[in-house]
Amino acid sequence: VLCIFNQTDWLIILLCSVEKYLQPFQLSPETLQEVSARLRKDLLRGLGKHSHHKAPVKMLPTFVRATPDGTEKGDFLALDLGGTNFRVLHVRVEEEAQKVLKMDSQICAIPQEMMLGTGEQLFDHIATCLGDFLESHNLKCQTLPLGFTFSFPCEQLEIDKSILIRWTKGFNCSGVEGKDVVQLLKEAIQRTGDYHIGSVAMVNDTVGTMMSCGYKDQSCEIGMIIGTGTNACYMEEIKNVKRIEGEDGRMCINTEWGGFGDDGSLDDILTEFDVEVDKTSINPGVHIFEKMISGMYLGEIVRLVLVKMTKDKLLFKGQISEALGTSGRFETKFISEIEDGLENAKKILTELGLDWGLVDASVVCLVCDTISSRSAYLCAAALATLVNRIRNNRKLDHLKTTVGVDGTVYRKHPTFSSKLQKAVRLLAPQCDITFLVSEDGSGKGAAMVTAVAQRLAHQSRLLEESDGEDDDDEEEEEGQ
Ligand code: BGC
Repeated sequence: VLCIFNQTDWLIILLCSVEKYLQPFQLSPETLQEVSARLRKDLLRGLGKHSHHKAPVKMLPTFVRATPDGTEKGDFLALDLGGTNFRVLHVRVEEEAQKVLKMDSQICAIPQEMMLGTGEQLFDHIATCLGDFLESHNLKCQTLPLGFTFSFPCEQLEIDKSILIRWTKGFNCSGVEGKDVVQLLKEAIQRTGDYHIGSVAMVNDTVGTMMSCGYKDQSCEIGMIIGTGTNACYMEEIKNVKRIEGEDGRMCINTEWGGFGDDGSLDDILTEFDVEVDKTSINPGVHIFEKMISGMYLGEIVRLVLVKMTKDKLLFKGQISEALGTSGRFETKFISEIEDGLENAKKILTELGLDWGLVDASVVCLVCDTISSRSAYLCAAALATLVNRIRNNRKLDHLKTTVGVDGTVYRKHPTFSSKLQKAVRLLAPQCDITFLVSEDGSGKGAAMVTAVAQRLAHQSRLLEESDGEDDDDEEEEEGQ
């Protein structure tokens, strides 16, 4: 072949072959519109009184009925489980300065075995970490309210009663699915601790993100995470949430959009690599959309594509190194680094023990770019569905809104956010969206949710008291 073709021709032939592998990842604007239309239908199924049980997109009520109004204040504890790390935080909400301050925080590692062990072990570990934190920060004598960011799909019955539907993102502790997580935490504190906690508010990380951004920008009505997992929440009209009572006002709905496709609705756009990632995951068939998008899986998709190309002799002289051949060894953070510059790509390929040439490194960049772009475009399609829905709900020609965003993929990837934003503008042309990267939504946001819940409880107490006084007045009048 080399005798007949010169080097440029050879490169073109190679790129055409590479294209064959990448083409299934490239989604046209029409396909993205179709994805958005399918999600639109699934949102309705999730909200429906009778259809929600079987809906792949769960649309979970959060009992968060209001975003911050800037009058919240106080000291709070926050726990954050379900992202990159488990953390304990002490947070202060200052009304005067309109600030949420992180006073102290501590990361506690959760060993891999514990992520797959018993629920009791996991919650005992959480309670012990909280106890150690209170001890070392002299907080043991106080009884502070606690916001618990628990970033897994939960059926929330009340702000402090939340049943885990299923684990995601590499967690699979026994005896927790179907149970009330607040109860499990309280039992663990009783077993292991010599301290007390105040009222508890359960928070999904999307909700924390929306609320922490909402303190700064009160038009923030959507929270989105693109990190280890992916998900979004938004403010829905209560009258549309058929599974709960009530007609007036709004409630934040945790969409759990990671489950989109679990009923096969995305099968036509799945690649053989997506199917493989799902099959070898600890929860096959679950969270299909998340597995095409989020940090827990992107690196593995890239690895599988590179392995196939190498086996087909398109890369690395047909030699797969041990690292490239090992599942999980191509980390999602490599994608961000590789797309940041060819020099990074060379370094990472060397570290992975690969015998690379310049063309190999360029092809790897192309593979990373294709897979991360697909992730950004799919998120854009999903976000466009939400903003279009909010605009229709409110019968507006034009919607101006803010999305609070967090997650390592969104934050760390060099072009992810700009691609996502550009695609949303295309898919939701009548919506003007401001993106606000959340400052620690999972920590500060949990405190914010707790603070708003306290404010609302306080307001309704005042209302009840004044109703009581009115009743007394009426009685007096009747008595006269
Ligand atoms: C969970 C969501 C969470 C998201 C982002 C998903 O796996 O199901 O509850 O919000 O990850 O952390």
